[in-house]
Amino acid sequence: IRIAVKEPNGERTEITAPTDMGLSLMEVLKANEYPIQATCGGMALCATCHVEVLEGPELNEPSDDEAYMLESLPTSTSRSRLSCQIKLTPEMEGLTVRIAAED
Ligand code: FES
Repeated sequence: IRIAVKEPNGERTEITAPTDMGLSLMEVLKANEYPIQATCGGMALCATCHVEVLEGPELNEPSDDEAYMLESLPTSTSRSRLSCQIKLTPEMEGLTVRIAAED
């Protein structure tokens, strides 16, 4: 699938990501060398993989753990997600996310 990514500096790029490997959006962003720290390695504990979903298909609801982390983030908005909690699926073609500036 193709995913469009807006970086904190406003630059917009597109990446292609596989959906048959069980990867999360965080893993794909990291693999493409975007500025995502993901300190906790995808455990929904650090929130350094925070993104805002700008466009694209409806995503699954955040889990309680994810929602709790997002609530504690001063910079989170109603479109915020932890990218480590988004498993890529074929339905996500055209997803557009903005990488949140550092909190
Ligand atoms: Fe830590 Fe997503 S990688 S919350």
